[in-house]
Amino acid sequence: MERDQKKKFYITTPIYYPSDKLHIGHTYCTVATDAMARYKRLQGCDVLFLTGTDEHGQKIEDKAKEAGVTPQEFVDSIVTGPRGVLDLWKLMNISNDRFIRTTDDYHVAAIQKIFKKMYEKGDIYKGKYVGKYCKPCESFWTESQLVEGKCPDCGREVQDAEEEAYFFRLSKYADKVQDLLENTDFLQPRSRVNEMVNNFIKPGLEDLCVSRTSFSWGIPVDFDPGHVVYVWVDALFNYTTALGLYNDKYDDYDHYWPADYHFVGKEIVRFHSIIWPAMLMSMEMPLPKHVFGHGWLLLDGGKMSKSKGNVVDPYILAEKFGVDALRFFLMRTFPFGSDGNFSNELLIQTINVDLANDLGNLVSRTTAMVQKYFGGTLPEGCKTWANPEPFDTELITLASGLRDRYEQNMDACAPHKALDEVFKVIQRANKYIDECMPWALAKDMETNGGRLAHVLYNLLEATRICGILLTPFIPASCEKLFAQIGAAPEVQTWDSAAVWGSRSETAAVTKGANLFPRIDMDKALEELEAARAAAAAPAQPAIELEPWEEEVDFDTFAKSDFRVVKVKACEPVKKSKKLLKFTLDDGTGTDRQILSGIALYYKPEDLVGKTLVAIVNLPPRKMMGLESCGMLLSAVHKENGEEKLNLIMLSDSIPAGAKLC
Ligand code: ME8
Repeated sequence: MERDQKKKFYITTPIYYPSDKLHIGHTYCTVATDAMARYKRLQGCDVLFLTGTDEHGQKIEDKAKEAGVTPQEFVDSIVTGPRGVLDLWKLMNISNDRFIRTTDDYHVAAIQKIFKKMYEKGDIYKGKYVGKYCKPCESFWTESQLVEGKCPDCGREVQDAEEEAYFFRLSKYADKVQDLLENTDFLQPRSRVNEMVNNFIKPGLEDLCVSRTSFSWGIPVDFDPGHVVYVWVDALFNYTTALGLYNDKYDDYDHYWPADYHFVGKEIVRFHSIIWPAMLMSMEMPLPKHVFGHGWLLLDGGKMSKSKGNVVDPYILAEKFGVDALRFFLMRTFPFGSDGNFSNELLIQTINVDLANDLGNLVSRTTAMVQKYFGGTLPEGCKTWANPEPFDTELITLASGLRDRYEQNMDACAPHKALDEVFKVIQRANKYIDECMPWALAKDMETNGGRLAHVLYNLLEATRICGILLTPFIPASCEKLFAQIGAAPEVQTWDSAAVWGSRSETAAVTKGANLFPRIDMDKALEELEAARAAAAAPAQPAIELEPWEEEVDFDTFAKSDFRVVKVKACEPVKKSKKLLKFTLDDGTGTDRQILSGIALYYKPEDLVGKTLVAIVNLPPRKMMGLESCGMLLSAVHKENGEEKLNLIMLSDSIPAGAKLC
């Protein structure tokens, strides 16, 4: 079918802030979006799934400075570097169709045009910002919005802020936004509507500060140098620039916009359900159909955050338990709109109960029996049975209606409930094995072989239908499952999930490896703790040492006269980038002058008064027209390819002139 004939479905995740490596909370939202995108593709929709990174703002600028790199280098290392954002999504089998970085040129240029358009319309104007600023959240707050004087989002300290800035006329759109929230199903779950209306709109929406001058790592306002665009304006429009709005990089804005769903965490619902629609109204653009605010994964009852040091590393979990097991756990365990407490115990328990015990056992018992009793191929005619038992009918009815129940829950953004429906069928199928007792039927194949084949066909069919509907959640495992139960591609489809009996009666079944082996809880917990500790240990820098010198005899060495010297004065040598001129007390009563090439490592003023070591019996040398009588001793090495130098400093209690031997 051509793209334009299919129903389009455009879904996004928030674009992640690469100030630190991503944790399991970020993975949660992306896996949920991925499951939804895969579900819609399974239904035959023309899906565009967008994710990306939100790379500007003061926090990134500060972090880069701390790390001694440029902001671009800093974000590159977290986005494209080893075990970075792109690697994580690849590992997690995320099927995004597009990835946007807000530092991409096309996005930057488009944001400048968007900002100017709102300015020319009069919806952005210049004023003065006086208020409070929360640095970690990159959010401005008025006094009245603070909670006990702290940031209402994260509860951290805020700072006074005052500067010339541009403002967006958010107040102008307050009534329209309130109407959107209260009278449509734009914001989901419904429980989030009251929070937005009562906490933010009813107290009075103030205009929003949308430019900054106090830092430079942002998109410049092109008609007013010195101002950079507020990171949230830059970030929110990613959903449209990634489709080609105001740029030539893509050209499917008209096709995909408006978005069907923005999936976002609850703390950024305010930006997506108030500020975002208001800006779109200003731009006279269609509004997204829905914003869904999911809950947080909590650890010990609190939000995970790098600064609290309680983040859970998705790499460790995916590598230890498998990508699908982790994806499944995230979607099965936590109701999507609510908060949930993460724990390793819960993860292992879910894998053991649902995947190893219920699903894994169903597949391995069924395929083993088809193999054992029928050599892997059921006989023709096994699909039907003249006198069905009540439990045949019960299983067939439950599995036949599963797709519709699943669809209702997926469409209501309740993946946990959709999975619950699937597992009811899996559990029913396991019970069916116990009720039918195939091993007892197999004792008399002549009499009961037909019945046994029918029972096994029913089990394969129930498994196939469940497999189709599990594909959005555990795609790689379902491929293996289909191969084992002999489900050809044409019976892995959405349509065939509603048609009991689609599977060929004689398709070959192959018992393969266990899809989900059982995990030893105690052992796994111990190993996880060890992996966490190893990952938390600071990375050892790659050190390169100078080559060792040739041996010298003792008498030659003993001729070198090392003395303690005290720095009386130190200044840069004019026209030299490297040299510092030291005036030293060497204990003789006459000042000694030494030139040392260490200006790249030390500021002269920091060295005055220090107690150093010099070799003092070298012949004087002239450098840059100045005499140097001796050499100061330093330790030198390379660290991660970079030259490092440390002057040898001694305790100040050692007098000048003392000999080192
Ligand atoms: O907010 N549980 O980026 P971000 C569940 N750049 N979700 C969590 C979570 C947790 N413990 N921790 C974080 C931003 N998240 C902006 C978005 S969109 C135009 C700009 C979710 O990297 C969080 O709720 O700080 C948010 O939805 C997402 O991870 C990205 O957070």
